[in-house]
Amino acid sequence: MKLVKPTSLLVVLLIFATLPSIAAPPRDDIERRIDALLARMTLEEKLGQLQILDGEANGNYRPEHLEMIRKGLLGSTLNVRGAKRTNELQHIAVEQSRLKIPVLFGFDVIHGYRTIFPISLGESASWDPAAVERSASIAAAESAASGVRWTFAPMVDIARDPRWGRISEGAGEDPYLGAVMAGARVRGFQGKDYSAPDKIVACAKHWVAYGAAEGGRDYNTTDVSERALRETYFPPFKAALDAGVGTFMSAFNDLNGVPTSANPFTLTTVLRREWKFDGFVVSDYESIKELINHGLAANEAEAARAALSAGVDMEMVSRLYKEYAPQLIREGKLSKANIDEAVRRILRIKFRLGLFERPYTEEAREQATIMSHANVEAAREVAARSIVLLKNERDVLPISKGIHSIAVIGPLADDQQDMIGSWSGDGRKEDAVTLLAGIKQKLSPSTQITYAKGCEIEGGASDGIDEAVRIARDADVAIIAVGESAAMTGEAASRASLDLPGRQLEMVKAIVATGRPTAVVLMNGRPLTINWLAENAPAILESWFAGIQGGNAIADVLFGDVNPGGKLPVTFPRVVGQVPLYYNHKNTGRPPDPNNKYTSKYLDALVTPLFPFGFGLSYTRFRLTDLRLGASIIRPDGRVTVTVDVENTGDRLGDEVVQLYIRHIAASVTRPVKELKGFERITLKPGEKKRVTFTLAREHLGFYNRDMRFVVEPGELKVFVGANSVDGLEASFRVVE
Ligand code: BGC
Repeated sequence: MKLVKPTSLLVVLLIFATLPSIAAPPRDDIERRIDALLARMTLEEKLGQLQILDGEANGNYRPEHLEMIRKGLLGSTLNVRGAKRTNELQHIAVEQSRLKIPVLFGFDVIHGYRTIFPISLGESASWDPAAVERSASIAAAESAASGVRWTFAPMVDIARDPRWGRISEGAGEDPYLGAVMAGARVRGFQGKDYSAPDKIVACAKHWVAYGAAEGGRDYNTTDVSERALRETYFPPFKAALDAGVGTFMSAFNDLNGVPTSANPFTLTTVLRREWKFDGFVVSDYESIKELINHGLAANEAEAARAALSAGVDMEMVSRLYKEYAPQLIREGKLSKANIDEAVRRILRIKFRLGLFERPYTEEAREQATIMSHANVEAAREVAARSIVLLKNERDVLPISKGIHSIAVIGPLADDQQDMIGSWSGDGRKEDAVTLLAGIKQKLSPSTQITYAKGCEIEGGASDGIDEAVRIARDADVAIIAVGESAAMTGEAASRASLDLPGRQLEMVKAIVATGRPTAVVLMNGRPLTINWLAENAPAILESWFAGIQGGNAIADVLFGDVNPGGKLPVTFPRVVGQVPLYYNHKNTGRPPDPNNKYTSKYLDALVTPLFPFGFGLSYTRFRLTDLRLGASIIRPDGRVTVTVDVENTGDRLGDEVVQLYIRHIAASVTRPVKELKGFERITLKPGEKKRVTFTLAREHLGFYNRDMRFVVEPGELKVFVGANSVDGLEASFRVVE
């Protein structure tokens, strides 16, 4: 852990005290200044603003970019970071280019800049938007201090197929939870005004339905109805927009025959016309050039025209706008107004960021901000809040700190690299506290701690298993850390199997067979098919990839300093053949009935999940009682309050996530069997009882009718309030015209 020197703290305080917090000019001025710039810009300079290039080369920027920036031919870079390096490039832009337009430095700051928090799926398991906002806000402060003022986050793709590796980057399967988390992340990154020196502009990605990739195979085709787009895939993007997100990123996928990086319906009809988005859209990495592979464009010029005219303002890495726009304009295939509009949107965000007023980053601030004591502590707290207790037979957990001996086992138990997960920004493995290190810090020297790796994450060798069994047998308790490597998750990391890879399960079986009290700690970026564990392991903790403080956070939970309160943001299937399996499915005409063959089910597997959405246990127990509705009949524009009493009936302080679901019994279009519409994570002392209140209004009760209009229809609605998506109390009310 890095201690902050008092002198550097003072420097930060002085800098923040002397900097005006807001740098952006008033909105009307911005438009006037853009007009003035546009009037002076050559076509080449305009196209320079529409270009973002990968600028990183061996820890520095690419030397050829200096010249491009000097000539005004490169408006943004990705991956260049560090106050010194970004300042060097910025000096060229602001002092040596003709129009002095600052460069925008972007980077994938997904779950932390250097202080790495849990992967986004893990953070979402906290069901705690305040914690998620705090994490994004720390990531923003660290990024901004390093000259990075634009993150390609949040990734808000709904993902219902755990084979897709990028499920780890988002908030899981549910549009409502996804929307809440999207809003929290955008607020954390941007604050109220992202021209503040510790804020950055966010990017909602990947617009849109990228997570619906057929077969869970990354980059694969998607075919999604307009209804599913509007009800399932759009809501987190809309929530990001409502939170003020400045940019969107188009995606790689073909959507209903028109790839998302050239789709006028999503990019213009919905985003610009319906939603009035006035920021800019960046393509994904070479996704414009890929329009040729998709078969939408016969050549590079057509690809550029298709993307730009559909509404993609900035091109990432491929350079087709630059190359072909002049010719397309000459041939009358692209209008100058189209180019000007794209430039305007990009400059607008640069102005709103205050880049023209304050283009540089104070180098002293960087050192004092990054990995500050407070940031690292926050990473530990958020990680602990993200952990989900999946099983705890005979109260194996928490473990007493007074035990004599503990065996720490598994390929992930002392693994710094994997702990920080994929897309880990500027994270360094040496910053990560492994589970073994966390346990060592937690226990006094009188406890004997033994460690064995046992086996690899992947691959066949099993020679280490005997040693692992031996140390387990000799210990009071065994903790086994198993799961996936970080590289098995994230982009281009789809899996056809969701089993624990390699010999890990074989090792766990051998250890459980010793009969020693055993807890399995999972580290993974997606739901896994862990039936054997669910049946036979005494305790299971889902820790995701918990970030640099993961080991400490998991130890906090294992030894009871923190009572776990996370809940699954995604369904865990029993077998991969059940996928996609998600809680808010339709009922079908033949809902599964064990006594009737001709109902919707499998011959060789159950239809139920292994662990349902919203599930998670605690070291204490909660009871929900007295579900009440404020009205039994409401008008379509009315509201209904829902109250429930929650009591901690156990003997420890703990958190419960109270979840509210609804179901329309009958409507003009069929509705899911349950839809999450509210939740609250509350903390209760032993014996304490609290009343939780939700309000259901138009935005919760409405849906898209056959004409794709958002309406609240008359009819009966059921309300479910529970501690997960399966169990709960029920009530109902009617909407009448
Ligand atoms: C990913 C994006 C990412 C971009 C820039 C792409 O491959 O799909 O999510 O923001 O690279 O690194």
